Amino acid sequence: MNLLIKNGTLVTAEKTEKADILVSGEKIERVAPEIKQVQGAVREIDATGRLVIPGGLDPHVHMHLPTPAGFSADDFESGSRAALIGGTTTMIDFVTPRKGQQLTQALDERLAEASSSLIDFSLHVSPVEWHQKLEDEITNCLKRGIRSFKVYMAYLETIGLTDDVLEKVLAILGKHGAMLTVHAEVGAEIERLRNGFFESGKTEPLFHALSRPPHTEAEAVKKVLAMAKKANCQVYLVHISAAASLSHIEAAQSDGQHVFAETCPQYLLLNDLAYDKKLERALPFVMSPPLRKKVDNEALWKALAKGTIQSTGTDHCPFNLEQKLLGKDDFRKIPNGAGGVEHRLALLYTFGVREKRISLNRWVDICSATPAKIFGLFPRKGSLEPGTDADIVIWNPEIRQTISAKTHHQRCNINVFEGVKTIGGPEYVIAAGKLAVQKGALSNEGLKGRFLKQC
Ligand code: URP
Ligand code: ZN
Repeated sequence: MNLLIKNGTLVTAEKTEKADILVSGEKIERVAPEIKQVQGAVREIDATGRLVIPGGLDPHVHMHLPTPAGFSADDFESGSRAALIGGTTTMIDFVTPRKGQQLTQALDERLAEASSSLIDFSLHVSPVEWHQKLEDEITNCLKRGIRSFKVYMAYLETIGLTDDVLEKVLAILGKHGAMLTVHAEVGAEIERLRNGFFESGKTEPLFHALSRPPHTEAEAVKKVLAMAKKANCQVYLVHISAAASLSHIEAAQSDGQHVFAETCPQYLLLNDLAYDKKLERALPFVMSPPLRKKVDNEALWKALAKGTIQSTGTDHCPFNLEQKLLGKDDFRKIPNGAGGVEHRLALLYTFGVREKRISLNRWVDICSATPAKIFGLFPRKGSLEPGTDADIVIWNPEIRQTISAKTHHQRCNINVFEGVKTIGGPEYVIAAGKLAVQKGALSNEGLKGRFLKQC
């Protein structure tokens, strides 16, 4: 059946205009000031007073991530459901091979896991060690539509890469025109600080944060950008949290390097006072990088408005309180991460658009269009052009909600945004032409996410 969205205010990264949209099958068929005549059966939605935006694209989620504390609490099905309810219709997750495993084999395994996703998805692939066949494996991934390779400068004991390996990986990616997606934290210094704190009896969550001071992010950013310049490789910096990182990013961008930066709602809205709380209340906030200070929040907002930071993700990686408690006597054992895939659009609308830190168009840009462009998914995703995927959110600017683990759709019994009040939210969400959310409730009939090749 066709879907006709009438009388809405269309907002894309470029423009805001009053127009109607006709959806036919999985695609947007027509956009015009007034669409009157439609052939065949049509369901009409009156979007008077609503914003009509492209579905959100979250470039950074970890569904069903294996850790020593068990899997992250959302799998692809539950996490994509929460995403949809929040207005996100595409996500990019990760492929993290076991040591010794081929990248494409790990990719196949992850594709099987991701097949339960209700929304379209793509994947970043992580080289986690050096070996002679790595270039072949990377080119095999490229042939299969993966252009983004995620490396970790932290977590050296497990999946992190040392500088010499990173240099070799960068050379391969630069040669093939691929993207280095990077978690920038100086792993060696963090390991030293972590172990030092623990050995002197400092075991609480606060010491997770103190063992990852802002300069460990800023120095890693500076270093990887210098290495990427040498290798002529484009870079996407995930979850930038510290104001101290921004001057390095700006310097590289002014120098003409292809450098993109992402931040997340938690680094814009939460701060390190969270770690001063009692154990059970501090545990949810253990994530890497850790929360910073209010001045960092404000610097990140400015960087988003100015364009130094072009993208937002959530780093959605929720763990239940019972999992977090596994580190109650040793902060090094607390699984890192927090959920948020459901809340990104509403949080950035409430605290970004409504508080005039960013414009409406910039909101769409950082939540959808630019991540789609960076990862080779635009204009199929992130636009409202005829011929593109009908992933559309009808946004009611007046919906009021209070975020809570009791009512959210993420499969997790804690929420770092507990009690935060948002204004504005999705009323209808259309995913690949299907009406997936109506009046805030999911109808998952026939929803089936597809793997998206990055081009
Ligand atoms: O604390 C975090 N961010 N956990 C998820 C894994 C990662 O480092 O991105
Ligand atoms: Zn992450």
